[in-house]
Amino acid sequence: MCGIIAVTGEGASVEILTTGLRRLEYRGYDSAGVVVQTRSDGFARYRAAGGTKSLVALEEEAGRYHGEIISGIGHTRWATHGGPTLFNAHPHFDCLEEIAIVHNGILENFRELKEDLLAVGHVFSSETDTEVIAHLIEAQLPFSRNLAAAVAIVAKRMRGAMAFVVASAGEPGVLVGFKRMAPMVIGTDGKSWFLASDIPAILDRASTFYHIDDEHIVILKPSGAVMCDLDLHEVPLESFSVDWTLESAERSGFDDFMSKEIFEQPGALRDTLAGRMTPDGSLVLDEQPADPDLWARINKVFIVACGTSYHAGMVAKYAIEHWTKIPVELDISSEFRYRDPVVDERTLVVAVSQSGETLDTLAALHEARNLGAQTLAVCNVVGSSMARLADAVLYTRAGPEVGVAATKTHTSQIGALMMLALQLAKVKGQLYPQEVQELYRQLLSLPNKMSEVLELWEEMRALALRYGGRSRFYFIGRHVGYPVALEGALKLKEISYLPAEGYPAGELKHGAIAMLDADAVVFALATRTRLYEKVMSNIEEVRARSSSIVVLGNPGDESVVNADESFVAVPQVHPLFAPIVDVIPLQMFAYHVARGLGNDVDRPRNLAKTVTVE
Ligand code: M6R
Repeated sequence: MCGIIAVTGEGASVEILTTGLRRLEYRGYDSAGVVVQTRSDGFARYRAAGGTKSLVALEEEAGRYHGEIISGIGHTRWATHGGPTLFNAHPHFDCLEEIAIVHNGILENFRELKEDLLAVGHVFSSETDTEVIAHLIEAQLPFSRNLAAAVAIVAKRMRGAMAFVVASAGEPGVLVGFKRMAPMVIGTDGKSWFLASDIPAILDRASTFYHIDDEHIVILKPSGAVMCDLDLHEVPLESFSVDWTLESAERSGFDDFMSKEIFEQPGALRDTLAGRMTPDGSLVLDEQPADPDLWARINKVFIVACGTSYHAGMVAKYAIEHWTKIPVELDISSEFRYRDPVVDERTLVVAVSQSGETLDTLAALHEARNLGAQTLAVCNVVGSSMARLADAVLYTRAGPEVGVAATKTHTSQIGALMMLALQLAKVKGQLYPQEVQELYRQLLSLPNKMSEVLELWEEMRALALRYGGRSRFYFIGRHVGYPVALEGALKLKEISYLPAEGYPAGELKHGAIAMLDADAVVFALATRTRLYEKVMSNIEEVRARSSSIVVLGNPGDESVVNADESFVAVPQVHPLFAPIVDVIPLQMFAYHVARGLGNDVDRPRNLAKTVTVE
């Protein structure tokens, strides 16, 4: 939800800002804008609004600027307060155009703060909550020592999760950032200092990265960066290393990031699994819990996640309960903290998230900690807010995922959660170390199976051509096939915008079967998992309603379809690992349908990759 980039120092340039924005575009693309500052001439602002064309227009406009800049801030927007128009595009100014701001998140009490400001004569030129912050700082600045002191005071009055960066015409080269439950990191190459919502934005520029703590401000000058709490007490910066390469954040010859990331899945899973299990079957985490006996005490697991990560969590529930006999509850993160989850110090709450920044999941993790639970973050972004908050961390090592539709991180998440299940089973004495090792060995064989599935690329394109014009799609499965069905439907919805529903196959007859007719297409997950034969019966129910059928099955089972139906063969693997290979053809089908419709698969309408608003 909105991407921020800022730079100060010797190398500052418009190009750094626009290149960074290009890499942050997955966070929103309703509009784009930059403000650059010279030592003597004040601010120059460029903005463009027009969906995915915004950044192209901005690059052209701002690219003509030839002043010698000392610092700049940039923004790509996913609209929350105010439509996706030019006058709502960031950066925003105060009345005198002496404060410039870019902002990600929501200022929840913006109405009351705005009313106060209007009452004393402030004039607004947008409908955004962001502009309110610029005016608050304008009002505070005359009573403060400098910009940083004004921001610290204003931050205390603001409610809501957010990150922002401000510049003042009166302090050329100084940038002040604030972070509260929204992503923002510091980077430097020794000559310039950067702030960015995500690492890829500055991956080609910065060699050292630093965390920013929540409820802290950072003051960036050409000479360096300082972090302070809101009482302006300095707090040491903590660096972290990033092993992502620039190439991993580029399209590298693919038409788009989504297809690249689909094809990266075998490598992503291989990296996620590599070296994770000791010979005695213990899981090697990235951050160990302070209490090594934690695992033995756990008598309940609670998984919280959103969207595709939630579907990975669903798969994990089957595996953990099967191997460990520990009960697993699963919750959509945005629901978790608004009910009364039964969680105590013997509960392990697992937050699953690609970004590690999804606000709903982050808030659920906070709630779990408040309730005294043990917490584990399974996420892809090193040093993300969830990774820093949880007691223990298990990273998926999928590399940067840029396409809004999650693909490689999903299959890596399932792999990571399978290892967690094995670890718990070993500690609980439900599996011998040798059994854990054997299952781990089977996990390690999956990347090769995934490569075989990727060979179905053209076959899935042909299926997309055949069925892409239909009006409704149903994905049905049972047991671990059910989350795969949900994920297949989500992928299709989010990039093709076609109505698609994932359903437990056995539940169809209780209502949804009424929707089936000759225009509907039903994908049945029928690989040899636990309820294979029951799925076969459910397929008969569909067949009787004359809907088109596509069966996803294992080689040798081709005869289950009639001549006018389709069969997609995927390799047979351990039944609990099947989602890792079975989901790939569904990702490819969604991709080809969306491309066939002329949609931008990397930047689907209305969506942002990382949802940092509630
Ligand atoms: O970063 P997270 O995994 O926490 O994101 C959660 C969801 O927003 C995300 O999985 C979303 O559903 C995907 N874009 C779906 O492809």
